[in-house]
Amino acid sequence: PGGPEYQAENATLSQATVASNHAGYTGSGFVDYVNTVGGYVEWTVQAATAGPATLTFRYANGTTAVRPLAIAVNGTVANRDFPGTGAWATWSDLTLTATLKAGANTVRATATGAAGGPNLDKLTV
Ligand code: GCU
Ligand code: CA
Repeated sequence: PGGPEYQAENATLSQATVASNHAGYTGSGFVDYVNTVGGYVEWTVQAATAGPATLTFRYANGTTAVRPLAIAVNGTVANRDFPGTGAWATWSDLTLTATLKAGANTVRATATGAAGGPNLDKLTV
């Protein structure tokens, strides 16, 4: 993915904190969701033109259980399971195609499982 990068640690957070205790993140850290349903990371993403875009979430999940997120793009929700990556310091990409509008778009990734979300490093659009 070569588009603009939006660091998770610069996003709006609820029931999630900025951390840096696992190597391999970009920027100044990553986001660690509280282990509960409902925490979220919300970015404002700019698009030059309306149309489909690939959203790439860089994440880590050091468990063997999926960490599901509901990803709302301007309120339209897609649910994705973020599989284990083998270790908290091992980062993978999960992509989602979404329709963006020209200008500012809201992307909110909300934890829907009791264990919370995976650790999130960044979103690339
Ligand atoms: C560990 C790990 C965190 C992770 C958490 C979790 O505490 O250090 O980075 O977020 O597990 O299970 O969510
Ligand atoms: Ca966590």
